This record gives sequence, C-alpha cells and structure tokens, in this order.
Amino acid sequence: NILQRLPAPLLDWYRANARDLPWRRTRDPYRIWVSEIMLQQTRVAAVLGYYARFLTAFPTVEALAAAPEERLMKLWEGLGYYSRARNLQKTARIVAEQGGRFPDTYAGLLKLPGIGDYTAGAIASAAFGQREAAVDGNVLRVVMRLTDCHDDIADPKVKKAVRAQVQAVMPETAEDIRVFNQATMELGATVCAPNGPPRCLECPARDFCLGRLRGTAEDLPVKGAKKPR
Ligand code: ADE
Repeated sequence: NILQRLPAPLLDWYRANARDLPWRRTRDPYRIWVSEIMLQQTRVAAVLGYYARFLTAFPTVEALAAAPEERLMKLWEGLGYYSRARNLQKTARIVAEQGGRFPDTYAGLLKLPGIGDYTAGAIASAAFGQREAAVDGNVLRVVMRLTDCHDDIADPKVKKAVRAQVQAVMPETAEDIRVFNQATMELGATVCAPNGPPRCLECPARDFCLGRLRGTAEDLPVKGAKKPR
C-alpha cells in the first residue's frame, strides 16, 4: 500500500516548508473552527484578512454568540456563502450554552451545524490531537494521484473509502497527527494543487507516487464522471 509510505517524508517536508498561517499557531478550538469554516470554498489568501478582523470583533465563542446579526454579516461581506456565517452563530450559541466548551471528539463535533466530516476531523485533530482524518478536496486529490485511482470523487462512497485509507496510515502521537493533517492539506494546496500541472519535483512523495510514475497525475482526480471505470 502506497499510502503507508506517505507519513514519514510528508512530515519532514511540512516541517521544512509549511506556510506560517495564524490558525496553525493555536490549539484554541474556537479559532481553529472559525478558520475551517472560512476556508470552506475560500482560498487561504482571501481568508487571512477576514480571519483577523473576525477574531478581533469576536474574540470568544460567547462574543460571537451574542453578536448582532448585522455586525456579523458585515464582517462576512465579500467572503460569500453566507449560510456559513449564520451556521457559525447557530453553533456558537449551542457551544456557549454548553459552558463555552467545544466537543473534543469527532462524533461530538459532527453534531454541530455547519460541521461535516472534514471539518470535524480537522478540529478534532488540530485542537485536541485526536487521531481523526481530515479529508477535503485537496486531500482527495493527493490520494487519488498517489494511488493512481480513477474512481469518481463525487461519489460519497469513494470519499468514505479515501477517508478510511487515510485514517489507517495516520501517525499515532498527538503532535504528529496535527502535523500530518495540516501537511496533507498543504501538499494539496501547494505542490499537488488543483490548478496547473503538479509540481512533482518538489513533492515529498515523488519517489512512490503512482500518478507521477504512470503519468496520470495531471488528469486526476476524476470528478462527476458519467460512467465509472
Ligand atoms: N484549507 C482548509 N483547512 C486548511 C488549513 N488548516 N490550512 C490551510 N488550508 C486549509
């Protein structure tokens, strides 16, 4: 299994090359959660300014829970997908009512509005060091290329299978788990990116990536295919 070869070189690569992003400097579940919601459907460069302004306006989950809707929507203006902001406040009110503490498990997080399996895994790992995969579009692309898999990533069964594969090769310590999930996203956002050809010569997986070795990487992943092969 190719994926088993990923963690060691990936962790080394990330420790040498990762971007310094504000949500990677904290273990506060509130701050990590806000970042993950903003980063859904939105690029890092676009999020940074919004993120800083948002946390200045609402430094705690209680502050967000109590925010006038107009102020919240004003701070979100331009980010798009406005249901994210409304879900954010809905969840903030639930968490504030539970004493301001976020659930510290994947299953607990998954119950909150606006938190799906990717976001639950991202928060559980980054904030609490839990051994939970966080498979977003970036990670799906990396895995499909590494394994030269042509399954349709629009199929929920395929996504579920990838999540299980990633889960199986995750490191064991809390610190390595945090780094591993950030690193898989980072690889997919930078080297194995959605736009332009993959920058395989910079990739920590270049020696064993089947998509690279077979020349299929650039055509993967397959998404929304009419006929699965
Ligand atoms: N996209 C989604 N989550 C991210 C994260 N934690 N860092 C960078 N890009 C991301």
